[in-house]
Amino acid sequence: MAHDRRESGSAHWWQRGSLLSLHDLPTSAIHELFDRAHACLPVVEAEEPRRSTLAGRTIVNLFFEDSTRTRVSFAQAASLCGADVITVTATGSSVNKGESTLDTVRNVEAMGVDAIVMRHAASGAALNAARALAIPLINAGDGRHQHPTQGLLDAFTIRQAIGRPLTDLPVVIVGDILNSRVARSAIAILSTLGARLTVVGPPALAPRSLETLGVAVERDFDAVLGDARIVMMLRIQFERMGGRGIGSLREYRTRYALTAARETRMRDDALVMHPGPVNRGVELDPEVADGPRSLILRQVRNGVAIRMAVLELAVERGGRGSPGEPRGSEGPGRRH
Ligand code: CP
Repeated sequence: MAHDRRESGSAHWWQRGSLLSLHDLPTSAIHELFDRAHACLPVVEAEEPRRSTLAGRTIVNLFFEDSTRTRVSFAQAASLCGADVITVTATGSSVNKGESTLDTVRNVEAMGVDAIVMRHAASGAALNAARALAIPLINAGDGRHQHPTQGLLDAFTIRQAIGRPLTDLPVVIVGDILNSRVARSAIAILSTLGARLTVVGPPALAPRSLETLGVAVERDFDAVLGDARIVMMLRIQFERMGGRGIGSLREYRTRYALTAARETRMRDDALVMHPGPVNRGVELDPEVADGPRSLILRQVRNGVAIRMAVLELAVERGGRGSPGEPRGSEGPGRRH
């Protein structure tokens, strides 16, 4: 139905302040976010004072699934914009008493907060929650579906590191593509920006069906390693049964890990990325993770700037006017 397509379109949601997916997010929106993140970077690097763009606003972090980087990064981003931040995790919340996700987000909204950041183990949970809300909802990762701020920070970091647009850039993503929301968001945004994408892994983790996303699927890491400018390593998502059908970890490592030995066969200007958490000695050797090609900690730092940009624009678009001002006559769920 046309109505359903419109409701699930990334641009449609972002126009109203909710960031649910990078699939079909227009280039203009990506560049607007990058420009804003670029302006936020000196604040993250403590070269400029904190902003007051979200002063008087309240951002609620609802993390129903484990996280270190994303949770702290959103809290730090909100704080650097002058917002008040409340973080709720599944442990210690009424989710443990059986309260549903929709009841939880509606109750949080009823307290007068300005935006909700949500991580959830179920694919599609972000869209379901956003449909029930009048305030913006930022997807901080939903199941195997999307992790849009991770994709944004990855693309922003690549653009910053290579110093040119991503057109025709050879990018290789290695590992558990099938179960990875990071891979799905990276593929969406890097395709929009014109990169040349190859995914690498065993059939159980990188099936041929991924070609429908517009990527090449390769089994032999060494066959594509020498051409790659960016190598993005992913961990096996054991919590999403990603270990099935790969044989032993030793076998996996032999074929698909970026080892110190394999790193010597990369082109001189090739760079290494990983969204974290890294399983050192499984998909990535410590020498490479901590070596001169690694962008890993730059990804993390840039993530705060990207999330500042996302929160500022979300509240500007989906906001309720001045802090404390009522949202008017529109009831929950009507805004979208
Ligand atoms: N990259 C990422 O999402 O890390 P966390 O799970 O620690 O948030």
